Amino acid sequence: MKLLVLKDSQAVAQAAAEHILSFIHSKPGLNIGLATGKTQEGVYKALIERHRSIKLRIEAARFFMLDEYLGVDAMSSVAFQGQLRSSFLSKVGASLEALEVLDGNAQDRTWESERFERQIQEAGGIDLQLLGIGANGHIGFNEPGSDFESRTRVVELHAETIQANFHQNEPPFKLPKRAISQGLGTIMESHSILLLATGDSKARAIAEMISGPITEQLPASILQLHKNVSVIVDEAAASLLSEDRHKSSR
Ligand code: F6R
Repeated sequence: MKLLVLKDSQAVAQAAAEHILSFIHSKPGLNIGLATGKTQEGVYKALIERHRSIKLRIEAARFFMLDEYLGVDAMSSVAFQGQLRSSFLSKVGASLEALEVLDGNAQDRTWESERFERQIQEAGGIDLQLLGIGANGHIGFNEPGSDFESRTRVVELHAETIQANFHQNEPPFKLPKRAISQGLGTIMESHSILLLATGDSKARAIAEMISGPITEQLPASILQLHKNVSVIVDEAAASLLSEDRHKSSR
């Protein structure tokens, strides 16, 4: 795992955008797996900013969703599909068809999960998968206890994940409790991975992901077994890393 510790969330977003740009330039028909959430917002903003000055050459790129809530209007601001389209893809010149969606309203979710896995396979795999991390160590929506071999499927969200992902003024009974998510086995087949974390709420998960035991209780720890993972975090998220690990990133 390559680790980069930077001052703050802005620096993390800028560095992540540069990392993604270097991939886009190296392979025009890139397959990129997109995560959502607060941590990624700054990255997408930084890429949109770059697009204004240098025009990202992403016409040939394909984008794959990492996860989606079940049963929400796909174009609403809660849905990850809606967020990705309105806050990123439409602003960098990506076509509507460039996004391979996970349909959280599919009647047959097993079929939908298998269809999505086939799309990835037929595209030749995901070249670069973006990931955030939950305070409990989830990646995608693979919560603690998820099978390391898991594939795309319907998952139950833990209460702390639901709490963390919504504004406090939204009553919890309205919020989706289930999602459809790439599995840990699916994520591990990505050719390379970029994981980002900011803020001290992620410090324990980052320390355990990097230096703790590889265990299904901390899903992100499986990334220790992947050969091509870059981790970019801010100082707050790195605050529980041992001094050795912290120094090795300087
Ligand atoms: C979202 C996703 C989640 C988030 C994680 C961190 O697509 O897969 O794993 O990356 O919950 O979310 P933020 O960045 O909002 O703290």
